[in-house]
Amino acid sequence: MTLSPAQRSKIEDVLRRTYYAEQPPEKTDTEAAWADFEDHVRVRYEQALLHVVPWVERTAGLAGRRVVELGSGTGSSTAAFAQHCERIHGYEICPVSTAAARGRLDALEIRNAEVTVVDPSTMLDTIGSNHPDGADAVLLYAVLEHMTFNERLVVLEAAWKFLEPGGIIVVVETPNRLAYFDSHTSQLPFFGMLPPEIAVRYVDRSPRRQLVDELRAADDKVLKLSRWGLGLSYHEFELAFDRPLRDVVVADGYEEEIVAIYPVEKDEELLREYFAECGVDVPVGFARSPLNFVVRK
Ligand SMILES: C[S@@+](CC[C@H](N)C(=O)[O-])C[C@H]1O[C@@H](n2cnc3c(N)ncnc32)[C@H](O)[C@@H]1O
Repeated sequence: MTLSPAQRSKIEDVLRRTYYAEQPPEKTDTEAAWADFEDHVRVRYEQALLHVVPWVERTAGLAGRRVVELGSGTGSSTAAFAQHCERIHGYEICPVSTAAARGRLDALEIRNAEVTVVDPSTMLDTIGSNHPDGADAVLLYAVLEHMTFNERLVVLEAAWKFLEPGGIIVVVETPNRLAYFDSHTSQLPFFGMLPPEIAVRYVDRSPRRQLVDELRAADDKVLKLSRWGLGLSYHEFELAFDRPLRDVVVADGYEEEIVAIYPVEKDEELLREYFAECGVDVPVGFARSPLNFVVRK
């Protein structure tokens, strides 16, 4: 179900009152501001609904699953998954995003989804007590890259332990640290591979003024850069799971649903060849950027 004009107008309205209250697109009136607005109104939701959800449905099944989502944002992924799973509970650290997500769910008349604001330091305890019977899926949609290095390891380990055998972890749209170009945050080549101490000094070269200004002003520059987003690689996943990645990955981002939204680029092909030549024994999807995985326990 793509957005009807009435749903679109309700979602635009709620986003303007919440997530974009301080910075509505007409204030800066740049192409980038309008594209970001359109992304939150429609594009993210439709990509999730028309590509990501069918991919998970086909490779691991979604019907009947109780999903816990970390980083539900303005609710695009929550709303898309809700239409194919039994129920979904999203957790999010940003209150205005959560208000926007509630408005979106309401506009779409989705009744099997809820979203809760959490503090990152207590998020896992909250999830544990809210879901005493566990869950059948953990959704990490464009979120791991915004976590600190410690947070992402703790979250992946906890998600793995939280699931019963047969449960799935779905990782979507996470930039790969091994990608040659960091299109997510700095828009600079090889930036994702830099140790954070160097990255926070080198970031001044980024063409993104807002990123440079925020980093200059930040007391904890590594934390600020983490919140903007830094890539992951297979290393975090190997550390977090107690089984070889080959044994647990059931979809790796080379499937047609994902290639349709992220066509394979030259640097990904080169990395894939390098994995083969050097015997890097992980699923080839770890050569893709962004990373998109379904992992089954
Ligand atoms: C790029 S958005 C993705 C939102 C949504 N999943 C979607 O696809 O539209 C990433 C979200 O993760 C949230 N986030 C960042 N760090 C987090 C953390 N440690 N725990 C939970 N959410 C976090 C951000 O506030 C942001 O809303």
